[in-house]
Amino acid sequence: MEGSPVRKGFDLTSAQRYNRLQQGDHIPALMGCQEGRQMVEGVPSVYVTRLIPQAGLSLLRGCAQVKVWEGEMPPPQEVLLEELKTADGVLSLLNDKMDAELMDAAPRLRAISNYAIGYDNIDVEAATERGIMVCHTPGVLTDTTADFAFTLLACVARRVVEAVAYVRAGRWKTWGPMLYLGYDLHGATLGLIGLGRIGGAVAKRATGFEMRILYHDLERQPVLERELGLVYVDLETLLRRSDLISLHTPLTPETYHMIGSEQFVMMKKTAVFVNTSRGQVVDQRALYQALVSGEIAGAGLDVADPEPMDPDDPLLELDNCVVVPHIASASVAARTLMATIAAENLVAALQGRMPRNPVNPEVLDVRGRR
Ligand code: DGY
Repeated sequence: MEGSPVRKGFDLTSAQRYNRLQQGDHIPALMGCQEGRQMVEGVPSVYVTRLIPQAGLSLLRGCAQVKVWEGEMPPPQEVLLEELKTADGVLSLLNDKMDAELMDAAPRLRAISNYAIGYDNIDVEAATERGIMVCHTPGVLTDTTADFAFTLLACVARRVVEAVAYVRAGRWKTWGPMLYLGYDLHGATLGLIGLGRIGGAVAKRATGFEMRILYHDLERQPVLERELGLVYVDLETLLRRSDLISLHTPLTPETYHMIGSEQFVMMKKTAVFVNTSRGQVVDQRALYQALVSGEIAGAGLDVADPEPMDPDDPLLELDNCVVVPHIASASVAARTLMATIAAENLVAALQGRMPRNPVNPEVLDVRGRR
């Protein structure tokens, strides 16, 4: 790949890519595009469903006619239906539903580039049937999300949010031997449910805390087992033995409510459970019961079902539950890189090239045969 302009920025780590962007490295030029392309016939039209970091928008503007929905909330379905009537590509977010109805109303649509690693908002089968390429943004948010899963583990295990509220409420009177006792991270047994990129990055961090690391997944990872000393176990063993449990599975029909009352009962009463994957993988009612009845010690949720979480959700009343608004990938660098990767993927797909991160690469073959 040496010398290929399109690949040039790809063999770098996320941090290196971000540094290059900071230094003004112009990816549009690498992709054979010009900055600020005007509305010209023959240039593809793309619709961007929210304001994303500028680096991604400039890249798109160098290669396409770009329209951006600037609202904070997702564009209403009728707006999407209207805008996609004339769009060749769409840059979507994880809370934009891309279904068959929408695709049928978008006769020119050739690519959906999701600004997320997860793509459960997209009907990929329907897209493939219609020759629409779907792309996502793996890789660039791995470490950022893993950092955050660890942050949540630490927050809940060491009761940080409760303690902050205590100080803010003016209740801090003295040093107390029994004040906010939590659970240690170092030396704990960590159970990783799902060992993809992010699960693996959490495991790396755990070695620094001298944790014993168990994992469960559909496939074993012999290299990581060897390198990091991970131990593969069945789900029940993981749930019974872990002090800290972190969930890293994608949402699929098979993983829907994969963690429910049966699983919480198996966990230690001192267990801390965190979810940075998708809310629907966990049965939240069962989680509530587990937290109030003391079946587990605490939980941290970056994701919820539904999102946003209802402000009256009983989980929000619990001291031993920390809920944040799906921000695990929300670092300046990760979100900037997600924007550029999503834009690069979209441009590549619209130019008839294989994008870096296709979900349904077979679409290019199908198109080629047409
Ligand atoms: C993703 O990219 O799927 C994440 O959930 C965003 O944080």
